[in-house]
Amino acid sequence: MRALVRETRLSPDDFVYPLFVCEGEGVRREIASMPGAFNLSIDELVKEVEAARRVGVNSVILFGVPDDKDAVGSEAYAEDGITQRAIRAVKRELKDVLVIADNCLCEYTDHGHCGVIEDGEVLNDPTLDLLARTAVSQAQAGADIIAPSNMMDGFVIAIREALDESGFEHIPIMSYAVKYASGFYGPFREAAGSTPQFGDRRGYQMDPANSREAMREAELDYEQGADMLMVKPALPYLDIIRAVRERFDLPIAAYQVSGEYAMIKAAGRLGWIDEERVALETLTSIKRAGSDIILTYFARELAQRLT
Ligand code: PBG
Repeated sequence: MRALVRETRLSPDDFVYPLFVCEGEGVRREIASMPGAFNLSIDELVKEVEAARRVGVNSVILFGVPDDKDAVGSEAYAEDGITQRAIRAVKRELKDVLVIADNCLCEYTDHGHCGVIEDGEVLNDPTLDLLARTAVSQAQAGADIIAPSNMMDGFVIAIREALDESGFEHIPIMSYAVKYASGFYGPFREAAGSTPQFGDRRGYQMDPANSREAMREAELDYEQGADMLMVKPALPYLDIIRAVRERFDLPIAAYQVSGEYAMIKAAGRLGWIDEERVALETLTSIKRAGSDIILTYFARELAQRLT
């Protein structure tokens, strides 16, 4: 009877699996603060995506971890950048995998900020040009969706126009529309080596105390042509997921970020919680709050349990 009247069901179809791709061959380096998540060289990445496919996860989002970083994040938009090569390899080796490209500069800049810096400040508009170039190069490599995560003002329209001008009118934008300046990104920054070398991201990411501002951010991205709206992190912001769901008819995504994953893994390892049960409970809550799409590092591990 419980199964008959259950209101929310998780499926591997809901999941997007975030993966970190690095240089080299045969590299499968576990991220210390994210047990079960790895920096993968392209050959290992292909194997990981294949394994995820076997348990029903058909969508991945890729983050590049380049060897060489510079002030303007050149590797982000290089034709042979690590992300571009990774996208090509996955699309070539595996059929029917949806590849989402995270679009940001922080993994590629030596200062770790999401944009170009002048006098210690991130410059909004010059950064937009670089994000647009990055988006086009990702689409050229074969990305199915572009997911801009850097929270500069006007990033959706800048990327939309650049994609359209280059013949990629059909490529959708999944905007990280509501992204909070969160302590929960810590483990990700270890994985991507993208910790800001000075200051923080509060100039462009949102104050965790604000919800009306979240609606304004989402509205702007909606008007600029975003095809999907994301809220991030997920569990501490279920009220925001619900509010965005009720206000917009677009598909809504939520990102269960690295720190959310790390907390569950850590307490599970200590034997303080039942890891799998808690992970499924959080993902169910995120879906119940109104998210259609869930980005989660648990995707591969838990997909098997759901089928
Ligand atoms: C890039 C980006 C970040 C995350 C996704 N895209 C890091 C940040 O803003 O510092 C975090 C994801 C996670 O913590 O799992 N801007």
